[in-house]
Amino acid sequence: MNQYVRLGVNIDHVATLRNARGGHDPNLLQMALAVEEAGADGITIHLREDRRHITDEDVWLLRSHLRTPMNLEMAATDEMVRIALKAMPKACCIVPEHRREVTTEGGLDVVNQLSGLGMQIAKLIDVGIEVSLFIDADRDQIQAAHDIGAPVVELHTGEYANATARESVENELIRLKEASTFSQSLGLVVNAGHGLTKFNVARIAAIEGMNELNIGHSLIARSLMVGLPAAVKEFREIMDRGCQ
Ligand code: PXP
Repeated sequence: MNQYVRLGVNIDHVATLRNARGGHDPNLLQMALAVEEAGADGITIHLREDRRHITDEDVWLLRSHLRTPMNLEMAATDEMVRIALKAMPKACCIVPEHRREVTTEGGLDVVNQLSGLGMQIAKLIDVGIEVSLFIDADRDQIQAAHDIGAPVVELHTGEYANATARESVENELIRLKEASTFSQSLGLVVNAGHGLTKFNVARIAAIEGMNELNIGHSLIARSLMVGLPAAVKEFREIMDRGCQ
């Protein structure tokens, strides 16, 4: 099987490091441009309600200088939808958000918030923003995502990434493959992300029809060892090898 899977790099943790001391070091825009230059297909940022890493200013600055598509991760709140409609990123990934979480825990519960979510994403879809819903590899959630008109789903790979026993890893992979097949049968574009590393990404990239992987923590962590451009290239190569 030979397919090209897009690599979206989540640069939130460059902003986390910057914010540790305030000021502009490391410079987020400079890093984003280096990530693009190294071969990433897009830049992902998560504007959280508490602005713990990415700030509103970052959104505007990146919006005007990026050469690749910006994927704005956000909760489906009135405030975030207002910002997205002004910033007009290429894509918005709607995620669940809890104030005290360290990172996004679990996927969106689309099934139980059909009308609220449907109303918020319709505003984004109407202006041409590509909306994806970050959901667990669950048939009901996929069906609900389709029913409210989302064109894209991003499958949560956290459980696969956290699995340690060989059997659990294999089971999680099967669950993701089945979810991907079912999503595609409904006409949904399938992305995936969360917890992906150099060691577990190849098999996710190899899932048939996979469109894009969004990778943050592990790639930024790896960049401390080898540099950001080299880390992007490493992930790119591993994904490509996985797809051959
Ligand atoms: N995709 C989504 C929707 C996310 O919320 C995150 C984490 O911000 C990622 C991908 C990237 O996850 P990680 O940082 O574990 O690679």
